[in-house]
Amino acid sequence: MARVIIHEAKGPIEIKVGNETRRICRCGLSKNQPFCDGSHMKTLDEQEGKLYKYDANGKRSEAKLL
Ligand code: FES
Repeated sequence: MARVIIHEAKGPIEIKVGNETRRICRCGLSKNQPFCDGSHMKTLDEQEGKLYKYDANGKRSEAKLL
């Protein structure tokens, strides 16, 4: 089974856990969920009004809404 989830964030949210700061992925591309692994850098040049999909290797292509 597969599902499509749309993420619009292009970076993580930082939370404090005790004395440590954790970066939580909001882009959906991290291979280390729920933590950010820097993969959001691939989203920085996405254009407004376009929809993209990323394959398992992180390769991006433009998608169409059904
Ligand atoms: S916010 Fe998703 S990898 Fe950084």
